[in-house]
Amino acid sequence: MSRTPIIIDTDPGVDDAAAILLAFASPEIEVLGITAVAGNVPLTATLANACRIVALSGRTEVPVMAGAEGPLLREQVYGKYAAIGAFPEHLVGSGGVTPAPEHAAAFIARTARAAAEAGTPITLCAIGPLTNIALALRLHPDVARGIARIVCMGGAFTALGHRVPWAEFNVFADPHAAGIVFGSGVPLVLFPLDVTMQALFTADHVAALRDGGSAGGRALAALLSEYDRSDPARYGRPGGPLHDAMTVAWLIAPDLFTGRPARVGVEEGGTTPGHTWADFTDPSAAATVMSQVDEAGYIALVVDRIAARAPAAQKETTA
Ligand code: RIB
Ligand code: CA
Repeated sequence: MSRTPIIIDTDPGVDDAAAILLAFASPEIEVLGITAVAGNVPLTATLANACRIVALSGRTEVPVMAGAEGPLLREQVYGKYAAIGAFPEHLVGSGGVTPAPEHAAAFIARTARAAAEAGTPITLCAIGPLTNIALALRLHPDVARGIARIVCMGGAFTALGHRVPWAEFNVFADPHAAGIVFGSGVPLVLFPLDVTMQALFTADHVAALRDGGSAGGRALAALLSEYDRSDPARYGRPGGPLHDAMTVAWLIAPDLFTGRPARVGVEEGGTTPGHTWADFTDPSAAATVMSQVDEAGYIALVVDRIAARAPAAQKETTA
């Protein structure tokens, strides 16, 4: 099986944790590195959380790097769960993984340029504000050549925003970075709120994660229990989304998703910064905007893989 080489750029974040655990539990994916960015919580916490997930997964060969501690131009905004900060040790543990010294943008640029040289372009899995990726793209013209595609959780086209009514958080947190990424010419596969909110993880799914036997499943179940994302008022039924895991799930099982080619853009200033738009009239457009997901298939993939394999750990004895 040929493995897809990816860098995960992330602001963990509970749903980021699910995406990283899914990637580690999937033989189809080769994680080259994890780059942290400020977003859900400040950079110090996103970096610590990324290190803890790597330690928990036993994947200490995967480097973790710190990136931008704030957006390119706009004032800093954090996620609505910013109070979480660093994951509590009783939920995820600290693990003893320390970040590599290289800056995230430099790591992305160096890795992409080497991939361009070798003719083996990489995939960027962008599941936080796009600041690191925008910086990397600006470091050298060869960076874009080494990136096969950017699979990005971001934007809202038919759905309302959730951090603000007009925008999805990752784009809202750094609209200028999103503008650079959207305009880079690198093929873009976007998972907007339109599709990520179609799949809701319920208490039964949390129990399956908890009881599946893996340390990763137990940790994710603990995070989902502690930080319940269900919102029946918004979704009209029990459960909450794991937005970011869709990007990794698509790399593993693309047939679970339906998307359309589109030209996409973002409002970088004005009264609705971070608002995203899509023009679906051009079949040759460079972006693909996902609009539908097989909810049951997606949830089963996430739960079964993480519960069983992330990482396989001794079942707790009942004695
Ligand atoms: O809007 C959802 C996105 O914002 C997710 O990536 C979540 O982790 C936060 O970063
Ligand atoms: Ca995220």
